[in-house]
Amino acid sequence: MPARRVPNSELAERLDTTDDWIRTRLGIGARHVTRDSSTVDLATEAGARALEMAGFGPLDVVVLATTTPDRLCPASAPEVTARLGYTGIAAFDVNAVCAGFVHALATGNALIRGQMADRVLVLGADVFTTLVDPGDRLTASIFGDGAGALVLRAGHADEPGALRSFDLGSDGTQVATVEVPGGGARDRLGLPVANHDPYLVMDGPAVFERAVREMTGSSRRVLDRAGWEAASVDRFAPHQANIRIIHGVARELGIAADRVVTNLEHVGNTVAASIPLALADAHDAGRLAVGQRVLVTSIGAGLAWGSAVFTWPELDGKARL
Ligand code: UT7
Repeated sequence: MPARRVPNSELAERLDTTDDWIRTRLGIGARHVTRDSSTVDLATEAGARALEMAGFGPLDVVVLATTTPDRLCPASAPEVTARLGYTGIAAFDVNAVCAGFVHALATGNALIRGQMADRVLVLGADVFTTLVDPGDRLTASIFGDGAGALVLRAGHADEPGALRSFDLGSDGTQVATVEVPGGGARDRLGLPVANHDPYLVMDGPAVFERAVREMTGSSRRVLDRAGWEAASVDRFAPHQANIRIIHGVARELGIAADRVVTNLEHVGNTVAASIPLALADAHDAGRLAVGQRVLVTSIGAGLAWGSAVFTWPELDGKARL
């Protein structure tokens, strides 16, 4: 996490909002906002900590989920990989916005299952506040910056940490529901765009409604594929965007509130970093035990969504946010 913490009270000093509104409608108390760390900086730090926990060793591929690469071109993954001391291996970005981490995890899983890799570093990193209009009280309240990482390795289906199944999906007819309309190739070509500003515009209520529906449906499909009942899920770690969405999905699935993992109150919506940061927080707090059944689910701009189920691995040490 970047060091600078921005509590709701700081937003309320310059925007027409209150701590009470942000806590009640979103469940967020503060977020961390970068001043001087880029996506590559945060991803490198998270990657170094994950590699340290995994005992370093060789890597075959680095997959970085991000919507905010340091440069429009090239991808940020090769630079992160080089800074971590690895060159000559495959390194690429995946952009599925808030569903990015699950897509990167699925990519790493597929590369290992397809015998193209034995060890993959999976990262989710975003400095999404750089896409937030500082004058927009809604998006300024929601988003924060951060990075999370894990090391995947080839193993056996019955050992703790094994990935069981995935569900990925999208609906590009809803692209305008959450988008940055300006600054892309369309804008550079002079084609019609809703707005030339390189800032995020979002139809909050439309996202809310689809988020509950798609995260619930995707979770049901991934549980079915694994042959797991929702009631057997020990920890549910959904994308952290709005506490009402999180509890709405848990209720629809029939997952008890004490099994839900959240750290939204302290970090806001950190986009591709959201799920790994929530899991890292829960791990450090002793809320995850070896072998527990974990369900993760996410949705965001695209629209794109994704879910995964796995058992919690044996980890050596703390994640240290
Ligand atoms: O990864 C995707 C990220 N996006 C999301 O997760 C967003 C999903 N959507 C939501 O979380 C909710 O729809 C919102 C929190 C955005 C809105 O909650 P709501 O219950 O759907 O809406 P509401 O009717 O309670 O409040 C909307 C009002 C609007 O004012 P008007 O048009 O009714 O006058 C907003 O301008 O709340 C206003 N508003 C705020 N008021 C105080 C928006 N942001 C703020 C704010 N402080 N920070």
